[in-house]
Amino acid sequence: MNETATYADIVTGRRSIRGFKAEPVPRAVIEEVLQLALRAPSSHNTQPWNFTVVAGEPLDRIRAGNTERNLAGVPDSREFRAGGAIGPQHRERQIDVAKQLFGVMGIARDDKEGRMDWVLRGFRQFDAPVSVVVTYDKVLEGSDIAPFDCGAVTNALVNAAWSKGLGCVINSQGIMQSPVVREHAGIPEDQVIMICVAMGWPDDDFPANAVVSNRKSVAECARFVGFPD
Ligand SMILES: Cc1cc2nc3c(=O)[nH]c(=O)nc-3n(C[C@H](O)[C@H](O)[C@H](O)COP(=O)(O)O)c2cc1C
Repeated sequence: MNETATYADIVTGRRSIRGFKAEPVPRAVIEEVLQLALRAPSSHNTQPWNFTVVAGEPLDRIRAGNTERNLAGVPDSREFRAGGAIGPQHRERQIDVAKQLFGVMGIARDDKEGRMDWVLRGFRQFDAPVSVVVTYDKVLEGSDIAPFDCGAVTNALVNAAWSKGLGCVINSQGIMQSPVVREHAGIPEDQVIMICVAMGWPDDDFPANAVVSNRKSVAECARFVGFPD
């Protein structure tokens, strides 16, 4: 990314990256990214977030454990409430982006093997060289504010990474089996695991990395009250 990139360049250019070069990411670059992300706002400036940045062998153990347990049918043990309900409009958008991704990857509707391979890639955090596990202080568990703050910092993180030429995908599949993540990343009991972010240098030859997902228009999701026009 060039040094004169504007905020608009970053947010409109960023997209989820699900294919990575097999090159390590220097710790110093990740520290710079985190430094930028830490400017995210939080409720009362409480900054409830913490990050465990995992690479190498511990990350491989997480990938293996997550995959093995999911394939064995161990129920999802994510530490956030996912909720069961989903509206038809949400389902439609979910299908929309899946169609975009499967389309460019050449995975047909009835290609069970191809679909399974994609799911397994997700469990492996898309083989990214780095996983940033975002956690928050357990003392705040039960309030919606800490997860909200983690969302803010995670968005800041993926944009900051993009500004340094790094690609990310926020990846709830990667923490599907949270005890595995906790064990191999050594996450202390006073932390709640919120999400992980797979990070690395984008592989420009990986078709899914080119997908630009759709967004609602401003007119569809914003109401203006008290404006003259
Ligand atoms: C909380 C959260 C969890 C996500 N989990 C996954 C995941 O498990 N697998 C995946 O491929 N993408 C995951 N994503 C990425 C979204 O699919 C992606 O952000 C969305 O489709 C918009 O695309 P974009 O990031 O390219 O703009 C997740 C995103 C968020 C915010």
